[in-house]
Amino acid sequence: MGTATLTAPEQVTDTFPINGTDFIEFYVGNAKQAAHFYRNVFGYKILAYRGPETGTRDRASYILEQDKVRLVLTTALRPDSEIAAHVHKHGDGVKDIALWVDDARKAFRLAVERGAKPAYEPKSLVDENGEVVLAGIHTYGETIHSLVERKNYKGPFMPGFVPFAGKGDSQGVGLKYIDHCVGNVELGAMNKWVKYYADVLGFTQLISFDDKAISTEYSALMSKVVANGNGRIKFPLNEPAKGKKKSQIDEYLEFYEGPGCQHIAIATDNIIDTVTKLRDNGVEFLRVPGTYYDTVTERVGKIDEDLAPIRDLGILVDRDEEGYLLQIFSKPMEDRPTLFYEIIQRKGAKSFGAGNFKALFEALEREQDLRGNL
Ligand code: FE2
Repeated sequence: MGTATLTAPEQVTDTFPINGTDFIEFYVGNAKQAAHFYRNVFGYKILAYRGPETGTRDRASYILEQDKVRLVLTTALRPDSEIAAHVHKHGDGVKDIALWVDDARKAFRLAVERGAKPAYEPKSLVDENGEVVLAGIHTYGETIHSLVERKNYKGPFMPGFVPFAGKGDSQGVGLKYIDHCVGNVELGAMNKWVKYYADVLGFTQLISFDDKAISTEYSALMSKVVANGNGRIKFPLNEPAKGKKKSQIDEYLEFYEGPGCQHIAIATDNIIDTVTKLRDNGVEFLRVPGTYYDTVTERVGKIDEDLAPIRDLGILVDRDEEGYLLQIFSKPMEDRPTLFYEIIQRKGAKSFGAGNFKALFEALEREQDLRGNL
């Protein structure tokens, strides 16, 4: 891909240490049902709960976990709530991509000094298991980053939650950790947000793709990837570019009513097994034409996996200088064409599958066309 540039981060000191993603919180219309969906379909354990029974009057939240991936599903109990307003405007969506830090007060102070808009001031939550300190800053759209300090906490999630009383166990489907979270922002806003992550959180830009790299006959987009000091947090940021027809980013922005999280990529050590289980549980994935596989070995060389299940499941393969990767994209998770998931297995490659963009975007456009939105 000639128009992509890859720059290795050259950081001497990490000016904003982040240990990893702490949790991703969704605001949803019905958290009880969403929790069952994520358990039964994606194999998460339902770990903990808070709601009216535990003294929380305005909301109910369920904590779901699979290896290092932790989701919080939150719903409003009354209409006059910012959660209800968020769901009314955006549909079910990501509200908070929470970052795990050692000192939340210090991180918050530093972020605000460097230009972050505060979402909420530092607060300390205490129970018999210890203390969690939380603070929040705004990012694109109505999305926030909570800064979570849990070094003095020994409980399962945080104070205020009790173990989930219902049937919450699960065998899992092999989801391991969050590889990256992608944000869709408005036309012309991508560079502003790249600068925001650089200035406020000390991120560096890893890769950029211009509209010539990411275009089909009909639509185009531009993308830049930023990452934190230790590389555990990676945020690709997309903006629409002018094409003959409406781009997938425009469709998202229209139906989400503004910028927001477009997809969450979750890593697995065995993509064939994970995707087989997800498909059996009813997850629908985007399909590229069968001809994609006629040339795949020519394009990426030899891979360890058997090609037959890769082709059968519709898994995509791409290679960079350091290795290869296997990936697949789900269809949107809600009726609005907004958030979707990527399942990714990295075999050395640190990139994002640029070699698959064209086949993938053509598949996306076929779906967009079916919705009457191309
Ligand atoms: Fe991705």
